[in-house]
Amino acid sequence: MTSRLPISPQVFAIFTALITEKIGIHYDAGDRELLGDKLSVRALELGFDSLLDYYYFLRYDPAGGAEIDALTDALVVSETYFFRELAQLEVTIAEFIAPRVAAGERPRIWSAACASGEEPLTIAMLLAERGLLDKVELVASDISARALARARAGVFGPRALRSNAPPPAFAARWLQVAPDRVTVSAELQRAIDWRRINLLDATEVAALGQFDVIVCRNVLIYFHDNTARWVVSNLSGALVAGGVLLVGVSESLLRLGTALSCEERGGVFVYRKAER
Ligand SMILES: C[S@@+](CC[C@H](N)C(=O)[O-])C[C@H]1O[C@@H](n2cnc3c(N)ncnc32)[C@H](O)[C@@H]1O
Repeated sequence: MTSRLPISPQVFAIFTALITEKIGIHYDAGDRELLGDKLSVRALELGFDSLLDYYYFLRYDPAGGAEIDALTDALVVSETYFFRELAQLEVTIAEFIAPRVAAGERPRIWSAACASGEEPLTIAMLLAERGLLDKVELVASDISARALARARAGVFGPRALRSNAPPPAFAARWLQVAPDRVTVSAELQRAIDWRRINLLDATEVAALGQFDVIVCRNVLIYFHDNTARWVVSNLSGALVAGGVLLVGVSESLLRLGTALSCEERGGVFVYRKAER
């Protein structure tokens, strides 16, 4: 039985253009075999005997949209874990969320590519620690339906706790840790409005309304600069005046030429939209 379909440079080129257009993920020429392997799994499962036929199905068949969703699940890197880059979240809540609650507002936070949900659940724990959980609106989204299903289930593998340090003391109240699984409290799950959003889709993003804080960490690295620029402009449009965008600690928006200004607060960097 064939376990892999050949991928010519031409077929690789049309697939990478399609994937960049629909999902945003960028592939270099050196990724041809890797991508060919992933595409082959899906194509063979659907009974195609050439990747070109699979491409035409994805691009032109009425059922192609649903298959793009399944392919998305197969292509995205959903690497995440609880308490990742924690200081950035702590400082942001202290500096940009707590003062707004104190001023009588109901601020909104969006974890914009949350994978299986450990990031927004960490944010929810930090808010709860400060007594802010019911005073803030917390939205979490991802493009991957499979990752979101894991997030909604609230049960994680042991790798969900793989940060270098032991879990912070405050986590004990919210996480039930067994050798083979980590279960999150239903109260935290319910505090989050889980959505499926493609960050490339300006209409979907705009429909979420405006946020005081958008957390979009460790996703722009998978995009080409032009795509990242487009996503950052969508996200900037969804920030209130003075609102902040967080990206991963190894990511920078400066080379993209964003209108947001980079500010250092308590040792962490945020990108801030101008006050009116
Ligand atoms: C490496 S995870 C990052 C998770 C989390 N933000 C963190 O830092 O731990 C990247 C996530 O970006 C999502 N993603 C990729 N392309 C996307 C797109 N066009 N729209 C929304 N999410 C996307 C993937 O599905 C994946 O779950």
